[in-house]
Amino acid sequence: MTDSKLAIVVLAAGQGTRMKSSTPKLLHQLAGIPIIGHVLATARTLDAAHVVTVVRHERDRLAEVISADLPESIIVDQDEIPGTGRAVEQAVAALPADFNGDVLVINGDVPLLDAPTLANQIASHRAGTAAATILSCFPSDATGYGRIVRTADGHLDRIVEHKDATEDERAIGEINAGVYLFGLAHLRAHLAALSTDNAQGEKYITDVIGHLRQTGESVNALPVADSWVVEGINDRAQLSDAAAKLNSLLVRGWQLAGVTVQDPATTWIDVKARLAEDVTLLPGTQIRGATVIERGATVGPDTTLLDCEVGEGARVNRTDATLAVFGAGASIGPFAYVRPGTELGAHGKIGTFVETKNAKIGEGTKLAHFNYVGDAEVGTGTNIGAGVITANYDGVNKHRTTIGSHSRVGTNTVFVAPVRMGDGAYTGAGTVVRKDVPAGSLAITVAPQRNIEGWVTTNRPGTDAARAAEESGK
Ligand code: UD1
Ligand code: MG
Repeated sequence: MTDSKLAIVVLAAGQGTRMKSSTPKLLHQLAGIPIIGHVLATARTLDAAHVVTVVRHERDRLAEVISADLPESIIVDQDEIPGTGRAVEQAVAALPADFNGDVLVINGDVPLLDAPTLANQIASHRAGTAAATILSCFPSDATGYGRIVRTADGHLDRIVEHKDATEDERAIGEINAGVYLFGLAHLRAHLAALSTDNAQGEKYITDVIGHLRQTGESVNALPVADSWVVEGINDRAQLSDAAAKLNSLLVRGWQLAGVTVQDPATTWIDVKARLAEDVTLLPGTQIRGATVIERGATVGPDTTLLDCEVGEGARVNRTDATLAVFGAGASIGPFAYVRPGTELGAHGKIGTFVETKNAKIGEGTKLAHFNYVGDAEVGTGTNIGAGVITANYDGVNKHRTTIGSHSRVGTNTVFVAPVRMGDGAYTGAGTVVRKDVPAGSLAITVAPQRNIEGWVTTNRPGTDAARAAEESGK
């Protein structure tokens, strides 16, 4: 049910300079979705009356993701005044005039923050009388974070940013997590007074905490036990740390749901993937995007699947596949390169050193060794011999090849598309198919073989080959 007393503000306007990237920080990927996507997904679960997201740097790219992930969010453009305090000030101004509740401010760079942690923060705040309740933690390395300064009797007094802190303050291990719940009136009362008189020349939202305390209000800081839940991502080292942590949680979740993961350290599973019971993932496997794997399938080792569907009991071994569908009991690899638009029927095979693209391959059909099949449709129960390829590109346009059911395509056949081969047809080894092959016929294009006797002895005298030929003739 919608929490009519809750508004959420997500801060996403920062430049993310420490990433040193042309991609905005919050669009860097974590388990297959952008950093901001994780925060928006968590925000959505709280079902707040209003959500405001503040953007500025690369605003269009951010706004596109926000509109797709959380369409109900109001998007506010931060002006040229920098800082998290200014971002919140502008967000609050965008809230409907009749709203009068709590404002949950979340830094957009805290992707592992989860809904239970926020629900606990909200419940704790509402059970007391504090003007604000914020989250804190004790990370192994507090460098860069704002520190929580407490009074001698343990009450939160203010937050000091790392760049503004004294040596003594930098020795404080408790940091501000960047997740704040304010009573709206308390927040409003102090936003306008924020100054940019600090090391970074920015309006800090963290200064509101000190101002509240100076006016006699109480503010609570709730320490979060697992600091990774609230650690912010500012550089690429923190990004990979967060990715590894999230992955270990996802892998464990799937293990408890009945998936065998032999080597969690080298197995990567994106948040959108779905795995059935009795799936086995072997070392070095990446299950990316919205990949779905059905019961009893085995994937890996050393396999990457992006947005694929793997049928029940299928076997995918040392394969790179994108946007492909594999039927039940199908066999893929080792060393297959499966490109978008590949559909392999049940019990079909895409074997060793085989590349496919935009190809519908019927049930029980086998491409066992060294094939390229692209822009093609192959019926059921057909055998494609080693080295067969579809020559789909004439240098200007791509053309289709159609091969019927229960056909036998001889080794090294080349289909020069557009061309069709009927049901139950054969081609001889090395055939170059330029004309349609009717059902039930055999196509052959080979020139008759000529043997020139004694050629090696005459033309390559004194070689090992010549000697071997002479020996064999004795
Ligand atoms: C901030 C806190 C710090 C805290 C840390 C927790 C401030 C002043 N400091 O520091 O106390 O320990 O988070 O991770 O708030 N943003 C805007 N507009 C801006 C600047 C930033 O919307 O003008 C957004 C960013 O996109 C980001 C978030 O606010 O999502 C935090 O900004 P960031 O620069 O990462 O702040 P920190 O230095 O990490
Ligand atoms: Mg940060």
